[in-house]
Amino acid sequence: MEKKTVFSGIQASGSLHLGNYLGAIRNWAAMQYDYNNYFCVVDLHTITVLQDPATLRAKIREVAGLLFAAGIEAENSVVFIQSDVKAHSELAWLLNCITPMGWLHRMTQFKEKSEKQKEEVSVGLFDYPVLQAADILLYDTHMVPVGEDQKQHVELCRDIAQRFNYRYGGVFVLPEPHIPPVGGRVMGLANPEKKMSKSEEKEEDSIYLLDTPDQIRKKVKKATTDSLRDISFDENRPGINNLLTIYQLLTDKNRQKIEEYFSDKTYKILKEEVAEVVIESLRPLQERYHELTGEAGYLDGMLERGAEKAGARAEKKMGQVSESMGLK
Ligand code: TYM
Repeated sequence: MEKKTVFSGIQASGSLHLGNYLGAIRNWAAMQYDYNNYFCVVDLHTITVLQDPATLRAKIREVAGLLFAAGIEAENSVVFIQSDVKAHSELAWLLNCITPMGWLHRMTQFKEKSEKQKEEVSVGLFDYPVLQAADILLYDTHMVPVGEDQKQHVELCRDIAQRFNYRYGGVFVLPEPHIPPVGGRVMGLANPEKKMSKSEEKEEDSIYLLDTPDQIRKKVKKATTDSLRDISFDENRPGINNLLTIYQLLTDKNRQKIEEYFSDKTYKILKEEVAEVVIESLRPLQERYHELTGEAGYLDGMLERGAEKAGARAEKKMGQVSESMGLK
């Protein structure tokens, strides 16, 4: 039987953090053997908010390097930069012409992000989910592994695909979001009421994948907890719950065992143990990252080959889409 197709994307808007790793990248690496995979650094999405060109250029390569360092293998997965495959922008335009504005007005991420910018908000930010739909639909994607915050965007993508298929025939595969049962929403350390995010003003909220052991220890030590004593998984105690969830995800132990283990320990010890587990889990990833970015031209070569493979597949799809709409 032919393998199904997986597509997912990641922005280059800041430094990758533990939420990106546990909610997305780590799962991409784990599931890559069972699917045809496309993993994309979505630089065109990144520029929907203002970026410094030199920083962006560096971040795009950093993110791509981290994907490989996290275990995604060029033999099993196509890793590429979105702007290297022009079909993404082209299909986004075609989908723009069939997507009602009302659907985009309902997107919660747009509402949140645009609140700060008011009238200055870019058309690109409003249109962001349509470009995301283009990413997914170009590759006849069956499954989109993402964190919880992307569920609404993948559902919108399905709606757009369905509308297109209704008007122009069955051109697009309808994709399903795939969200991990645990880890789909890793919370901030300083503010565990909010998800860990790249654009967080407060640096101490996020553990970045390239943080040093000392930085990690400091951030975890300062993590917000509560005034109780017992250590248990409890959604009403977001700080402790988040630390325990991170520990669970990185040790693969079950919840009961973890609670038993910490039953006679203090918050201080919990934090020390969480920090060490994070440090040890990130160590091999960091080593691989430095190895592969240290070798001149290695990463660029892999990305070039990724763009060629993705481009060939995307061009084929574009031919089908253009024809169905009467453009060819
Ligand atoms: P981005 O770059 O914000 O995040 C990349 C992936 O990391 C997940 N994630 C989290 N998971 C758990 N806890 C968190 N705190 C956390 N923060 C982020 C995200 O859910 C995501 O899976 N719009 C997308 C990029 C994109 C895309 C696509 C994704 C563009 N085109 C097509 C899938 C398919 C985004 O901004 O992800």
